[in-house]
Amino acid sequence: MSTNFLKRMNQISRTGLLLFISITLLSAYFLFPSSHKTPSFPTFPKDEYVYPLAQHVQEQQRPKRVGIVGAGASGSAAAFFLRRAGKVVKDRIGKEVLGEIVVFEKEDYVGGRSTTVFPHSDPRYRPIELGASIFVEANRHLVKAAKKFNLTTIDPDFGEAGVGIWDGTQFLYTTSTKQSYFSSWLDTISAIRRYGFSSPYRTDKSVKVLLKKFANLYNPLWLAEKGAPSSIEDFAERAGLGKEYTTRWGEEYALKVVGVGEKWESEIWEGSTRVNYASDMSDIHALGASVSMATGGAMAVQGGNWRIFQSMSEDSKATVHLGTQVVDIIPLQDGRFDIVTNTTDIVSASSESFDQIFFAAPWHSSPINKDLQSQFHEPIPTQKYVHLHVTLIGTTRRHASPEFFGLPSTTTIPSTILTTGHTSRNDNTPPPLFQSITWHGETAPGSGEYVVKIFSLTYLKESILSELLGEEPTWVLRKEWDSYPKLKVTATYAPVEPMRGLQYLAALEPWVSTMETQTISARDAVARVVEDWWGLGMGECRGGVDSWDWSCDP
Ligand SMILES: *[C@@H]1O[C@H](CO)[C@@H](O)[C@H](O)[C@H]1NC(C)=O
Ligand SMILES: *[C@@H]1O[C@H](CO)[C@@H](O)[C@H](O)[C@H]1NC(C)=O
Repeated sequence: MSTNFLKRMNQISRTGLLLFISITLLSAYFLFPSSHKTPSFPTFPKDEYVYPLAQHVQEQQRPKRVGIVGAGASGSAAAFFLRRAGKVVKDRIGKEVLGEIVVFEKEDYVGGRSTTVFPHSDPRYRPIELGASIFVEANRHLVKAAKKFNLTTIDPDFGEAGVGIWDGTQFLYTTSTKQSYFSSWLDTISAIRRYGFSSPYRTDKSVKVLLKKFANLYNPLWLAEKGAPSSIEDFAERAGLGKEYTTRWGEEYALKVVGVGEKWESEIWEGSTRVNYASDMSDIHALGASVSMATGGAMAVQGGNWRIFQSMSEDSKATVHLGTQVVDIIPLQDGRFDIVTNTTDIVSASSESFDQIFFAAPWHSSPINKDLQSQFHEPIPTQKYVHLHVTLIGTTRRHASPEFFGLPSTTTIPSTILTTGHTSRNDNTPPPLFQSITWHGETAPGSGEYVVKIFSLTYLKESILSELLGEEPTWVLRKEWDSYPKLKVTATYAPVEPMRGLQYLAALEPWVSTMETQTISARDAVARVVEDWWGLGMGECRGGVDSWDWSCDP
């Protein structure tokens, strides 16, 4: 059913008429979104880019030992890329240059904000993404990883019975809740009447420009030429996705630069930024707003997207300490580090200290001892995060109760409800209680029980949940977390290497926060380190064998 629905949406968007509905629908399910149609990649002149290893590789006394704080997307990807780089060097000089990679993770699972839960906490049910729900075709690392690790990708679990835009008081726009040839044409007509032709067209064009720039981040020629970025400012400007995108608000960008109409901006586009980043268009920078609309080829890994990060971590043969909180990092005289965790005082005797630390968690929210920052050459600015409430509920109802929305009982409520804060900002009416509500499929095939996912910025009382469903939920799971950074306008970022030997992977987060960009942050950090240690650059293609940074195979 879902496949047919997406196919139909594709057909429609190919006609250029209902592009925006697919955009809206596909936006509806992710905490950490990303991009659109994959642009073609320039071919790499094979054999030409082989880095001569640095002289000092031969003099390296013992294999390097690395500590990684955090086993989320960036920490796991750092382990993965680092091991690949180590292997390139070993293959060339016949000597092991990379020793143990030790990952410390405070939670008892790998994947960080990419994690699933089971309805009724029973693994016989279908796992539901709690955090990062989808990735897209343009997310090359995630797509490659899914393939490499033989993970099955599936169509995202979208509600297929219509989309509505709720403003806290009324539905401003809804598509049909029943799918047929005629309803799709009716939807097209009503959408054109409300939003016109040019807004969806211009949005799509601007997203294509964005994705073309994004594609350079994987282009071997480009990477080989540019080398590892030394700051996020540098990284963003090189990509052409710097100040132009991050120093203006989404609202201004959409209206003045892209040139869309106000209804489109405040309903469809804001509906997307609210579901993707829990931010209104007036409160998110243009890059975050644009990424929220880049949803082409959305997919998810069967069983959970975390399986990508679990596989990366396993592939790296890292030693992973779960349920282990790093409480201090102690720099030593010789430039190495000791790590103190809540399970042991000092993890490494000094002979086994760490040559490099990848700090793959937000610095300020980490309970780590902050004394270390007195040695940073540049402070890590405080970063605000969106505190999101994710409420998952089970129900036998196929749709929300119309009474909850003040509608007659014969109304069918769409299965995806996006929201806008625009009316409330302008008219002083109450804002929507939630960011989005989406009806998923059944908890298990044939169970007659559906999963509903609600994003909100506040706690939703039991009574509200019952009112929404028109019955008591069969199951409730609440998760509150700092789901993503607030993407405020900015031109400056945290240092990527606040002190020598310490890579800060979360520095990229306020630029844009997605599973994919976390892996890019990790790759770039690894590039800085392996360039320093072994003279290994990015974008190397050894006669058709893929490079450590994964840029060389199709
Ligand atoms: C260490 O910290 C983690 C995360 O806070 C916690 O789950 C674990 O129980 C702690 N372990 C000990 C031995 O205190
Ligand atoms: C890949 O996964 C499929 C389905 O789970 C399985 O049948 C196949 O054997 C796997 N292949 C490899 C190389 O692991």
